[in-house]
Amino acid sequence: MRKGIGLDFGTTNSSIAIAYENRTSETVLFGSSGGGTETYRSVLYFEPKVPASTGPVAIERYLAADEKGRLIQSLKSFLASRLFTGTNVFGRQYTIGDLITIILRDLRAQAEAQLGSFDGPVVVGRPIRYSNATDEADNTFAIERLKWALNKAGIGPVVFEYEPVAAAYFYESTLDHDELIMIGDFGGGTSDFSLLHVGPGARKRRASGEGILGTEGVALAGDAFDARIVRNLVSPELGRGSDYRSIDKVLPMPAWVYSDLERWHYLSFLKSSETIQMLRSIQIHSLEPRKIAALLHLIQSDLGFNLHQAVQASKSGLSSETAARFCFQDGDVQIDRNIQRTQFEKWIAEELQKIRDCVDRLLAKTGIEGSKVDRVFLTGGSSLVPVVRRIFEERFGVAKISSGSEFTSVAKGLALRALEL
Ligand SMILES: Nc1ncnc2c1ncn2[C@@H]1O[C@H](COP(=O)(O)OP(=O)(O)OP(=O)(O)O)[C@@H](O)[C@H]1O
Ligand SMILES: [Mg+2]
Repeated sequence: MRKGIGLDFGTTNSSIAIAYENRTSETVLFGSSGGGTETYRSVLYFEPKVPASTGPVAIERYLAADEKGRLIQSLKSFLASRLFTGTNVFGRQYTIGDLITIILRDLRAQAEAQLGSFDGPVVVGRPIRYSNATDEADNTFAIERLKWALNKAGIGPVVFEYEPVAAAYFYESTLDHDELIMIGDFGGGTSDFSLLHVGPGARKRRASGEGILGTEGVALAGDAFDARIVRNLVSPELGRGSDYRSIDKVLPMPAWVYSDLERWHYLSFLKSSETIQMLRSIQIHSLEPRKIAALLHLIQSDLGFNLHQAVQASKSGLSSETAARFCFQDGDVQIDRNIQRTQFEKWIAEELQKIRDCVDRLLAKTGIEGSKVDRVFLTGGSSLVPVVRRIFEERFGVAKISSGSEFTSVAKGLALRALEL
């Protein structure tokens, strides 16, 4: 029986799916101590003298370690960044391609153990606009880097498909009639939209060349929401906005430190001897030395992932309740606060506006009025944020909104796409 394989290398989570000729699909289950999981955290963990670990195992090893190694998150956000060529970890230089290859090798090994070796092309997802991409040349640059890593990991030949188009194919697999659909896929790094006809008839027309009506994307999503929580709630407790004395002047804390702290993919790079030395000398002359001590503790003890977990827990709490507790206590870092959902919604107001503008651009460029859209399918982890959903409820009406399979729709859709090749 013919089968199609889809690989969704996500900013936060990755997954692999297989689709069969009867258009059903299922995801690969990845090993973790808590049993199989269909979402594989896209993280990489380095410890001295042992091979790097990845995914759920990386997180388990990191959490169990007394002396933390280096945990690198949100690697996909570096792909389009020409300035980021690589990093030195425990004395060895790695390019971005090398880092991603380590993750992809494990994904492939676990998937092949379940599915048998990949034959035929693997369809791999791409966002409309990669994080840090300013133009299409940057997107192409990101894809070339990812292709290099896929090839190194023995995955291929590969065909790329837009992630929100894949999510549309997943949605389509449940349909017995045609619909004009808008997809919104809100992940960790990017928010991506597509507008297309789906359904049994649309699929036939697609085979004879009818295309997608339009796609649009904006390079912000869950990680950007997290950054706002860090900026408003965490950074002030770690000295953002505080001053220190330098000879006869009073200077503000350097802003770049907090900007790295807000970005998961940069956070682990703060742990360099130069930065630590700089912070130590600032601490001596700081007007709020306890806050700088807390910042140093977070960086030196590599607590980036613990911070991520605390942010994630309160953000998810705010998706289901109107208030949530933010608790992050470790050594000198002692933060325990309540956040109101309305407050969080204000913090992310700029991001929400960019999402609204992106939807408007898609409708404007396709010339399709909102009232002509039959259904809006929202997926990806960040579609669980109520105010994100509200954008679409207000624009298209509550009755038109569907959602689901937040963490697997893209991989399954990519696998369904592979069947059409
Ligand atoms: N209950 C929740 N409420 C709000 N946000 C959530 C919730 N659950 C997960 N998220 C967020 O969803 C994001 C991850 O979603 P997803 O796995 O779809 O992203 P991804 O596919 O890895 O990223 P991308 O598609 O941008 O590459 C994270 O930012 C995470 O914090
Ligand atoms: Mg995604």
